[in-house]
Amino acid sequence: MGYIIEMLNITKDFPGIRANDNVTLQVEERSIHALLGENGAGKSTLMSILFGLYKAEQGSIRIRGKEVSIEDPNVATSLGIGMVHQHFKLVQNFTVTENIVLGSEPRKGILLDTRSAEKKVESISKLYGLAVDPRAKIEDISVGMQQRVEILKMLYRDAEILIFDEPTAVLTPQEIHELMQIMRRLVEEGKTIVLITHKLKEIKAVADRCTVLRRGRCVGTVPVASTTEEQMAEMMVGREVNFHVEKGAAAPKDVLLRIRDLDVKNSKGLLGVKKLSLEVRAGEILGLCGIDGNGQTELIQAITGLAKAESGHIFLREKEITNLPIRERLDLGLGHIPEDRHRHGLVLDFNLDENLVLHNYMQRPFASWGVLNKKAIKDNAARLIEEFDVRSGQGAATPARSMSGGNQQKAIVAREIDRSPDVFIVAQPTRGLDVGAIEYIHKRIVAERDKGKAILLASLELDEIMDVSDRIAVIHEGEIVGIVQAAQTDENELGLMMSGSLRKTPKGGQA
Ligand SMILES: Nc1ncnc2c1ncn2[C@@H]1O[C@H](COP(=O)(O)OP(=O)(O)OP(=O)(O)O)[C@@H](O)[C@H]1O
Ligand SMILES: [Mg+2]
Repeated sequence: MGYIIEMLNITKDFPGIRANDNVTLQVEERSIHALLGENGAGKSTLMSILFGLYKAEQGSIRIRGKEVSIEDPNVATSLGIGMVHQHFKLVQNFTVTENIVLGSEPRKGILLDTRSAEKKVESISKLYGLAVDPRAKIEDISVGMQQRVEILKMLYRDAEILIFDEPTAVLTPQEIHELMQIMRRLVEEGKTIVLITHKLKEIKAVADRCTVLRRGRCVGTVPVASTTEEQMAEMMVGREVNFHVEKGAAAPKDVLLRIRDLDVKNSKGLLGVKKLSLEVRAGEILGLCGIDGNGQTELIQAITGLAKAESGHIFLREKEITNLPIRERLDLGLGHIPEDRHRHGLVLDFNLDENLVLHNYMQRPFASWGVLNKKAIKDNAARLIEEFDVRSGQGAATPARSMSGGNQQKAIVAREIDRSPDVFIVAQPTRGLDVGAIEYIHKRIVAERDKGKAILLASLELDEIMDVSDRIAVIHEGEIVGIVQAAQTDENELGLMMSGSLRKTPKGGQA
């Protein structure tokens, strides 16, 4: 089998960093080729070069054996290369079909030929098992569906080489399973896929070969079938990774977060959370799990002040915070790692050091008498960058926008953990992080627990919930349908509760 893609000796520099250093990637036709590496290793950069978004300083690219110069994404498209970015680029109030054809609309005279566009979309979605409603508006469909639209968009333009940049980071386990099947189907039909992911299980499940990058350099390419997850992890991190979370038994004390009969409306104006009651104690990690869209987001937004409570009560220690402004909740000892890092976590136009003091830049030592203390802000950044291994081109002075996805996430997590809040609401903390970073963040969350903090951990990763939590609360259609001890449950039992077929609420609401 020949190589369909050859990226040879690629070097790419950004201010302060060599993002790709003499990297060579050779991809076989009709295969799934995984690209693995730590946060900031240069994966997205390499694929952006292939898609014509960046120009390499050195190196050459061959597509189907022929040397090409990919000046911009239009050239990439004409070469049959398509890319699904981690943050989708769809127009929210357009329909599925309108988004797919956008930029290459079929016309009948001067009129848009919607009918024939819909037909083509239908036949492509049938062929690959990509079911979507062609007339639905983007704003009304799930993230998983939106991703299908992005895939259809590439296929509509006859892409043969499909680049997926962390496609599963935002998907539910069920959607991930479906995407894996779609990928296999695409390869059966002759497509070639480059898959960037941090999840070794996914690489084992679908990829044929895997290329590992570390700090911009190529560590090697291995056949996936004969390489273990541990071996791949070690190749990327350069040391052994501990997949198991080390923690002692919890010693829960007073209730620090108490929720009583809480009702919260969702974006459709219906009750997303219904009469929900829950308690989290000092010194414990309560995991919150459920199928995406069952009220976890509304619950967390109500606790943190991003959404209004329709009725019911939220107490932080003895103090009712139900309808307090966000700022006052923070001052009372609430902390939050938000699930949507671009909307609620970072100011992309600010530098890293400024982002690391977003909540407390007007307090000592970062300001006194209303004057910012630049040195204190820089020192704070230097400490957190070191502790959490945040990698970026220009250190504290790096604009957040130019940081890699995983390093943006690390910055948010570093800032919030460092505040060491008494009640810590942690949502999808390791989304987009590499295995080494996940290991470290889990350790720090457990350390907060052991300091006597109350932690509510929401995650779509069942493994993360089971490994890190002490107790697990399962949410289904806005209600808590079960609370169990993490050590005494398994994937099956949680799955039954998540789908609403099993209820397990112990007497008195405490497991
Ligand atoms: N547009 C840019 N301007 C400046 N620096 C950049 C830019 N894009 C990427 N970088 C830097 O290049 C390096 C590689 O980034 P890249 O996004 O390729 O990493 P990655 O392997 O995709 O990481 P992650 O797993 O976190 O997504 C990072 O240090 C990043 O800060
Ligand atoms: Mg990336």
